[in-house]
Amino acid sequence: MSKSDIEHSSSGANPEAATTTDPAKPTLFQRFKTHMKRWWWVYLIAFCVVILVVVLPVIYVGVPNFASKYINDYEYDYSGLEITNPRPDAFHVRQKKQLSMGGGFSGSGYLSPFDADIKMPDTGETFAVFPVQRIAFDGGAELDIDQDLHLDCVECLGRLAVQAATNEDLSVLVTGKPDLKFGALPTAHLDIRKTMKMKGYDVQKFVNTPGSFNVTSVNLLKPPTKEGYNVNATIALKNPTPFSVEMGSVSFNLSMGGSDLGYIDVPDLTLKQPSSEIVMLGDLDMDLLIQQGIFGDGDGLGEVTIDVQGTRCEYNGEEIPYFAPAIKAIKASAHINLMDYASSLM
Ligand SMILES: *[C@@H]1O[C@H](CO)[C@@H](O)[C@H](O)[C@H]1NC(C)=O
Ligand SMILES: *[C@@H]1O[C@H](CO)[C@@H](O)[C@H](O)[C@H]1NC(C)=O
Ligand SMILES: *[C@@H]1O[C@H](CO)[C@@H](O)[C@H](O)[C@H]1NC(C)=O
Repeated sequence: MSKSDIEHSSSGANPEAATTTDPAKPTLFQRFKTHMKRWWWVYLIAFCVVILVVVLPVIYVGVPNFASKYINDYEYDYSGLEITNPRPDAFHVRQKKQLSMGGGFSGSGYLSPFDADIKMPDTGETFAVFPVQRIAFDGGAELDIDQDLHLDCVECLGRLAVQAATNEDLSVLVTGKPDLKFGALPTAHLDIRKTMKMKGYDVQKFVNTPGSFNVTSVNLLKPPTKEGYNVNATIALKNPTPFSVEMGSVSFNLSMGGSDLGYIDVPDLTLKQPSSEIVMLGDLDMDLLIQQGIFGDGDGLGEVTIDVQGTRCEYNGEEIPYFAPAIKAIKASAHINLMDYASSLM
């Protein structure tokens, strides 16, 4: 978030604030109202934090597309946000960042700690409660999140994950009642109830956007490993999300023109910024691959289309029920030119 974002958004939300020059001393209530208008973004940050930590792992790049008016105006900076240690009913969230307020506005106060309830908009089920820490501000604020997020309804997050991975729009409802204290002004009791809309993510488009991933090495394993892998490939994968996510061990089935090509395992899929090196081990039908490369219906010699279907996502041997449905919902076709890897394949 840059200084100009805040200034821009603040003046957008309150166009008269900068220009009003009322000679009369404003009443406490007027000052309070002005203050609330100026400070909406402080609790907005609390919101964003809530949303981004909960829905993030599944929304991929959807979060910047918040439909709400304020959030449309507001650019949250996700840099440094990390999701790690996924477990079936919890994950860890970390982000530390300094926020500057801009606008030449000084003064101090705080947003009290509060529980943000994240609910399904249709059924009202609470699927997670995010304890937001006290956020103090004094010409700026420091967000320091380093905590586990427990999921009360894992299946709810799984449903959102599928929507996100299949490019559907989705939304969540966030409620919370923090207090906002600013200087000598009376404490404001906020009652937040907001539906956050997000866009799903088009995996197919990502896979076929040039530069999304590059195969950096392919090695045939002869003889195959004891697990049965006959290929070891490394890819450089651009992070489709604005944060870092540890997903665990992920597998995909591959096929070509309807024939089974085999599968690949990614023992440790961690998306880092801006891109990560990912090791993939596969058991592939090399004869089929080469035969399709030569005689297949690709445009040129070696041009093949590989259909990818996600099959599982585990961490420490346990299925991660909110990532797995998203991985399983991935169905994409990658276009690859085998000639680029001819020296290692033949
Ligand atoms: C696969 O390749 C990576 C990088 O070259 C290497 O670190 C890893 O040990 C290899 N794994 C196997 C099973 O060959
Ligand atoms: C893949 O290679 C292209 C061309 O060299 C480069 O522009 C792109 O950033 C690379 N992508 C990744 C994820 O490294
Ligand atoms: C993946 O491939 C295996 C072996 O062909 C098959 O048994 C399994 O059903 C496939 N899974 C999916 C999700 O397509």
